[in-house]
Amino acid sequence: MQPTHSLLFKASTAAIVLLAAPVTHAVDWTAGRALWDTQSPTGRCADCHDAARLTAMRTTFAGSTVAQTRTRIQAAATSVSGMGVTFNALSNAQKDQVATYVADIRAEGNVTANPSATLSISAVNQSTSTVITLFNTGRAPLIVATNNGVRLSGTAPFLVAGVGSGCLAQTLAPGGSCQVRVTYQPTVAPTTQHQTTLTIEHNGEPANTTTLAITGAISAAPPPPPPASNGGGGALPFALWAALLPAGLLARRTRRSAAPSDPKRGTQ
Ligand code: HEC
Repeated sequence: MQPTHSLLFKASTAAIVLLAAPVTHAVDWTAGRALWDTQSPTGRCADCHDAARLTAMRTTFAGSTVAQTRTRIQAAATSVSGMGVTFNALSNAQKDQVATYVADIRAEGNVTANPSATLSISAVNQSTSTVITLFNTGRAPLIVATNNGVRLSGTAPFLVAGVGSGCLAQTLAPGGSCQVRVTYQPTVAPTTQHQTTLTIEHNGEPANTTTLAITGAISAAPPPPPPASNGGGGALPFALWAALLPAGLLARRTRRSAAPSDPKRGTQ
């Protein structure tokens, strides 16, 4: 029986490793947030530090590593006894997690669409596209999942492809970016519009996906040109008429002011 058990154990361990392999989700920031907000064994950091104080701390620690931040938290915990009770009850791993949260060290994904996430063509079988840029707006490297890390929802007539190296399986340094192109090419007109959601899966915290709703539509046919004039000689096009009007008014005013013998003006 023993060999069977150990075989089973190995098989399930392998399954867990396989499942965990595709994306490395960083969780230190998220775990640190839980400690800060709710789970500290002897009290909460949030009991003494409100959101404004946390924001101020993040400015202070914006250039600090986890270790540097932890050292300063430890120093404060040593001089403030109430804080010491809370901080010193944490394990070393938890102290690093809370330092990661205080210094806001995490990857964070944000997207923009150029020219727009609303795509419009004038007839079926035409195509148009938009370029989506994923930015890492966080302080830690953003790693896009290798396995299906960039995907579109549903079966709508959209395609996604990388621009340059694309985003799939890329690692973006803080401030870095990558691009994909989403193309809309329907063969059948939508009832009103086609919709899809671009999802990029990564190790960001607290959200490990960044999504963008994209719509596609067939634009209304352009309005017919205005009917041609039927008056003899034809009316002036509006733009030309509008351009001539001020010149005519100006000529009249000039004539009036150049007439000093005008009796009405003379009496005023
Ligand atoms: C009993 C109240 C109390 C608790 C609980 C508490 N602190 Fe503090 N903490 C203080 C006081 C008081 C100071 C000094 C004044 C200040 O900086 O706001 C301080 C300072 C700090 C500083 C600033 C250090 C610096 O050098 O600028 C950090 C960071 C900090 N605390 C983090 C934490 C963390 C993380 C926890 C939770 C593990 C925590 N605190 C829990 C009271 C507390």
